[in-house]
Amino acid sequence: MNQHTNPDREARNILIANDRGGYTIPTEGLYPYQWNWDSAIAALGFAEFDIDRAWTEIETLFSGQWDDGMVPHILFHQQDDGYFPGPDVWGGHGPIPSSGIIQPPVAATVARKIWEKDGGAGEDRIRTLFPALLAWHRWIMKWRLDDHGAVCTTHPWEAGRDNAPDWDKAMEGVDPTGVGEYQRRDTSHVNSADRPTKYDYDRYIKLVQIGCEVDWDQQKLLSLNLFRVADPTMTFITLRAARDLMVISDKLGIAADGVSDDIQKLEEGARSLWNEALNSFDSRDALTGEWAGSVSNASYLCWYAGLESQSMLERLQGTLANVPFPVPSYDPAMPNFDQRRYWRGPTWGFMNMLIGFGLVDMGHLPEAEVLRQKTSQLIATNGFAEYYDPLIGSPAGGNSFTWTAAVWLHWAGRK
Ligand code: GLC
Repeated sequence: MNQHTNPDREARNILIANDRGGYTIPTEGLYPYQWNWDSAIAALGFAEFDIDRAWTEIETLFSGQWDDGMVPHILFHQQDDGYFPGPDVWGGHGPIPSSGIIQPPVAATVARKIWEKDGGAGEDRIRTLFPALLAWHRWIMKWRLDDHGAVCTTHPWEAGRDNAPDWDKAMEGVDPTGVGEYQRRDTSHVNSADRPTKYDYDRYIKLVQIGCEVDWDQQKLLSLNLFRVADPTMTFITLRAARDLMVISDKLGIAADGVSDDIQKLEEGARSLWNEALNSFDSRDALTGEWAGSVSNASYLCWYAGLESQSMLERLQGTLANVPFPVPSYDPAMPNFDQRRYWRGPTWGFMNMLIGFGLVDMGHLPEAEVLRQKTSQLIATNGFAEYYDPLIGSPAGGNSFTWTAAVWLHWAGRK
């Protein structure tokens, strides 16, 4: 059954409808601002029909960059009461009202892809953008590494996998006392069974309140030891971004001092996330050294980072063969698997695309193609949802979702 007869047109229309003038919201209602990695993915979608607009998306994101190089996870371009926590709770101090944390740095990789798609149109844009991309990379290297060289997330929202089981143990250590009364908005837009629980939300908000109290002073936050988990999303994506920055700098003939050393350090960090007992890449609490014990879709980003792993490949082959709508955000064989709850089971199209990029780069073409086709079928049948039930394929969370539309145009729907 194919309910979506013209997905190409539908996908373009979603990007155009979610365009707020220079930036794209993830979806109307639930996410009314500019999100960092959503925007990078959106740019890949725009690049399929409007390359100038694609560059503008990334440029608008970097217009919110803080003086120290940090690029916030949300830019609050215009106040919208339908979202909580908004700019008043975050207290970000960049040029545009913003949050105080980042998201995985997909932008450098996307900028390279868009440039390679149309070198003529991209040369000036990437040249201008490059120092900002480099400054963000340096900020991450300065503030987010653990002792092994893996990249940490300091808030579950920072890794972009909000309620993943990866954070469960570390979240137990966050004391939500004094968080006070607040009104969630997400559950008034979508089914609360698809969303994080109140237990999680209290801790998310508490971490935001503490960050705001210290005015997002990274040195102070480091010494407070609140929440620091070395994670495959941040680590693999930062490593990939560093590799892409090197390539861009070589091609443009602009220096990128220190980045090749960073790549080595990040490679060590990435390998340190191999959990032998789990036979998978995993997250590790940077404060206690304890493994999370989580096989997630981020575990499969190793190829995206340029790292080979036969064990992960075999695991992926099993997942592609046995999970009806792969790749689940959490392994269905694990006890906390929850097929509808956000990052505790559902399949996310854009994560599949990133995994697919890596598979192609590392020469695993059959697996890449199976993954692309399955993602294509999932979207064509169930529409442009935020994410999907990996067992029955039904759409969940928000709909008319920007990154799912971009994934269709750039990757899943390409013949
Ligand atoms: C959720 C997702 C995050 C995404 C945001 C906007 O918070 O977990 O990854 O960036 O929504 O789509």
